[in-house]
Amino acid sequence: MTKIVFFGNSSDIPKLVPLARAHYPDLQVYTEDDPGALDAEVAACWRPAHGALARYPRLRLIHAIAAGVDNILEDPQLPPLPICRVVAPDLAQGMSEFVLWSVLLFHRNLDQVLMRQRQHRWQRVDQEPAASRTVGILGLGTLGTHVAQTLCQHGYRVQGWSRQAKQIANVRSYAGADQLDDFLAGSDILVCLLPLTDETQGILNRRLLSRLPRGAALVHCGRGGHLVSDDVLALVREGHLRGAVLDVFEVEPLAATSPLWDEPNIYVTPHIASANSLQSILDQISENIRRLHAGEPLQNLVDAQRGY
Ligand code: NDP
Ligand code: OXD
Repeated sequence: MTKIVFFGNSSDIPKLVPLARAHYPDLQVYTEDDPGALDAEVAACWRPAHGALARYPRLRLIHAIAAGVDNILEDPQLPPLPICRVVAPDLAQGMSEFVLWSVLLFHRNLDQVLMRQRQHRWQRVDQEPAASRTVGILGLGTLGTHVAQTLCQHGYRVQGWSRQAKQIANVRSYAGADQLDDFLAGSDILVCLLPLTDETQGILNRRLLSRLPRGAALVHCGRGGHLVSDDVLALVREGHLRGAVLDVFEVEPLAATSPLWDEPNIYVTPHIASANSLQSILDQISENIRRLHAGEPLQNLVDAQRGY
């Protein structure tokens, strides 16, 4: 039996605990306040309070219950242990669906159609083939690659930007700071699927977004820390950006007073672009625990130095 403690600021935690107790007999499951939790060997967490992980002296593995690990790596008292994340096929599938919906919104001019419905205006909009649009994806990792392939299947021209060059069929690869300008200049719809690191903090700012062609659209599914929301708002109002779908925000929930809510060409979604199913989260954690005991390489191991 492996002792595992679940904690952190996520509505999934109270759902994962009973499921793990009911269906994973090899796990002895604790929450933070349970007697015995301090002996845990594995921590399964999301947005843990700073210093919380350091309280467990027997910990051998830190497991995020989701894909992004910025919320764990920012802990100044983070113990030097392996950190894994969960990136299941259902997460990638869900992200592809969300991005496809967002891309269709702009490419098929459905944003204008929805606006005109509110004005009771029956007015047809121009329709052009998918191949007339280039979608640029910032971040060609697990999710960015799946999204790129899905968009290719739907006929879009697709290009991506990452640190290292990639070889993905029909996807034009740009890598590193030197190639960023060329990548941006050719992106009609920009999708952000980067992890939040010191290097990518605030990357969606006026300087970067101004390099997109006039009338480009933004689909942001990375992290709130990437987004300089005042810059996006200003660029939408100036017409440089035709619109933006924003799923993640610096402070979540987004404040009810935020001007983003009421901006006509901005679409706010409450961090729902995609999520791992509860079953996949527990399966991946349980598989990594098996590997930990067997001395096998862990799945979805994070490089803490690199930040993702
Ligand atoms: P991965 O770690 O698999 O991929 C990250 C990609 O970003 C890699 O291609 C990497 O390049 C690239 N990258 C990182 N830093 C830089 C940089 N400085 N310059 C250029 N490229 C960079 O991540 P995932 O695809 O699994 O997830 C991406 C993010 O999506 C998560 O970190 C999370 O924040 C967000 N997310 C959002 C969800 C939502 O519902 N909104 C749901 C799930 C995840 P290289 O390949 O060369 O290393
Ligand atoms: C994740 C997320 O990182 O839900 O998985 O944002």
